[in-house]
Amino acid sequence: MTTPDLRLTVAAELERTRARTEALTEAVDDDDLIRQHSPLMSPLVWDLAHVGNQEELWLVRDVGGREPVRRDIDELYDAFKHPRRDRPALPLLNPAEARAYVRQVRDKAMDILDTVRMEGRPLVADGFAFGMIVQHEQQHDETMLATHQLRSGPPVLPVSAPPPATVKIKSEVLLPSGPFTMGTDVEPWALDNERPAHVVDVPAFFIDAAPVTNAAYAEFIAAGGYDDQRWWTADGWAHRTTAGLTGPAHWNADGSYTRFGRTERLVPDEPVVHVCWYEADAYARWAGKRLPTEAEWEKAARFDPETGRSRRFPWGDDPPEARHANLGQRHLSPAPAGAYPDGASPLGVHQLIGDVWEWTASDFHGYPGFRPFPYREYSEVFFGPDYKVLRGGSFGTDAAACRGTFRNWDYPIRRQIFSGFRCARDARPEELG
Ligand code: AVJ
Ligand code: FE
Repeated sequence: MTTPDLRLTVAAELERTRARTEALTEAVDDDDLIRQHSPLMSPLVWDLAHVGNQEELWLVRDVGGREPVRRDIDELYDAFKHPRRDRPALPLLNPAEARAYVRQVRDKAMDILDTVRMEGRPLVADGFAFGMIVQHEQQHDETMLATHQLRSGPPVLPVSAPPPATVKIKSEVLLPSGPFTMGTDVEPWALDNERPAHVVDVPAFFIDAAPVTNAAYAEFIAAGGYDDQRWWTADGWAHRTTAGLTGPAHWNADGSYTRFGRTERLVPDEPVVHVCWYEADAYARWAGKRLPTEAEWEKAARFDPETGRSRRFPWGDDPPEARHANLGQRHLSPAPAGAYPDGASPLGVHQLIGDVWEWTASDFHGYPGFRPFPYREYSEVFFGPDYKVLRGGSFGTDAAACRGTFRNWDYPIRRQIFSGFRCARDARPEELG
């Protein structure tokens, strides 16, 4: 891309993203913005000013070398200084101040975008710092959407139904054994944890052609899955017991489901959402399967059996369009299995991108040769056995923050995120044909 084109692309992405932030924060009144809807979440007004503060730190001060817009609030909006549950008690900017702050920061960032040299510095090469800030804001927009799901009261977000299923999907797909390239060196806005590209040899496995649906998950519940310790790991059983889990979050006793303030019948062929890793893992064991490893998931999403190369997305290298995947909060729910035939992989794995984040079996680690960039606190401080990786993005994930290499992570007990899963299993020798 030429530099003028890159500047236009970046400006459009920043503006499109800010419109989403505004929609999420203007949907409720000021009282609601400063309230904590769940101890797991920040008040929405914290996310708003935090997004502006990160933009100030990276684009205004670092890339632009300009004077701070405000030098007194960095500590308040440093996610590592204050856990989410403590944030409502902080002397935060009020909604009007937060809106004025993000606008001032944005004006400066746009000014910098007009003149900054895009070559030479790794932080700015291909517009990376701007892409990082777009993705950061989009990630917080998804977090704010999760906060909306946790708030009580009448609905405030407009809905538009996802597309219906148009194809019948088979149950599983065989991925042949062999090496594939995981991660990337070429995706310009890929974050540090997606790098570097490296070859992984993956034995043959079967993966579900679609995420596990509400109907399938309801069978697990009806079969007594939550009361049978055999299906759960020791930690999972302990969590299920202390947390009193009996089904996915937001499922009601009468078989209905409450979503963004609306209570509706569960849609049987829609992917299950708001399950924690322990629930996904227990379901998989009950089904005689297991969760896919991260490498298996990425091979299913990127491996092209014709050429052997890894693609950006299951459907190829083109950026996501509405026909490919349920992304970007266009719909406020996952779409039924079979709704996105245009987004399927060459081997026929559907809905890997969008709909629901998919739990994998893997802990969050750096790839071989990992280098933190541009700061350790984006990924590296989370590496280790405490976090499980999720892949693929949800209906609430923007296309700018989603690709075949993108890695998300959370604690195995968490389910306020838009998390679902699909299962996998080893291929037996006689199944290899
Ligand atoms: C990648 C979604 C786990 O929200 O905690 C936001 C992204 N990092 N601000 C998170 C992030 C810093 C991160 N996740
Ligand atoms: Fe953040």
